[in-house]
Amino acid sequence: MINISHLTRKFNENIAVDDLCLEIPDGSMFGFLGANGAGKTTTLKMMMGLLQPTSGAITIDGLNVAANPILIKSKVGYLPDEVFIYDYLTGKQFLNFVADVYNVDSKIKEEKINDLLGSFGLKDAADEYTANYSFGMKKKLALAGIVIHNPSLLILDEPFNGLDPQATKDFRNMLKKMSDKGTTVIFSSHVLEVVEKLVTHVAIINHGKLKICDSINNIMKNYESLEKAFFSFT
Ligand SMILES: Nc1ncnc2c1ncn2[C@@H]1O[C@H](COP(=O)(O)OP(=O)(O)O)[C@@H](O)[C@H]1O
Ligand SMILES: [Mg+2]
Repeated sequence: MINISHLTRKFNENIAVDDLCLEIPDGSMFGFLGANGAGKTTTLKMMMGLLQPTSGAITIDGLNVAANPILIKSKVGYLPDEVFIYDYLTGKQFLNFVADVYNVDSKIKEEKINDLLGSFGLKDAADEYTANYSFGMKKKLALAGIVIHNPSLLILDEPFNGLDPQATKDFRNMLKKMSDKGTTVIFSSHVLEVVEKLVTHVAIINHGKLKICDSINNIMKNYESLEKAFFSFT
């Protein structure tokens, strides 16, 4: 369970995240929604321990994120909004590199990497330089890289940005598969149609403030659609 308590982050006078309180249940597929500049990326970075809160706290399974930066990173997989992959590594070399960073056991490493390349549809491109990958392939490879250490929580910043319809569908199915295995998935997005099909829970923020946090079933019951809920708060 993730607990966000009175989380605030200021950049000089600008309050990017404003007294945010939120609970994210284990095993949920949690959509974090808001317009551009609402404070999504800032919140996700603080969840990952990449940015310090001005005040307030985040705990993951009872562990304070700010106080346990290394331990948290071993439990969490984080996909930033701008995916970075070394152009001059092949897909396989990239995953080898990431596996070494996370100390994946050398006995299982090769099999793990081949499994991931297979399940992410990258087997044929495994020995190709990532410089020659499409944007969607790079994102899939990045996603494969962040699950290599079997994290129990995934934090994904705008995972559907820039993906074409086929890649969006593939990506959605991959996230669904991971969620079905029990991984908690939190992702930010402003593509409401994709979110509606995928999530168990939704939070909407506007100007850094939480407007609503509920199960998708309740939101559909009370607002008819995610779009109506979204526009009634933004
Ligand atoms: N490093 C930074 N320095 C100054 N202001 C920032 C920084 N990062 C984000 N902000 C500001 O914080 C607010 C929230 O940004 P962000 O969290 O990126 O929103 P979102 O991801 O929802 O689009 C915006 O007003 C943005 O300009
Ligand atoms: Mg953002």
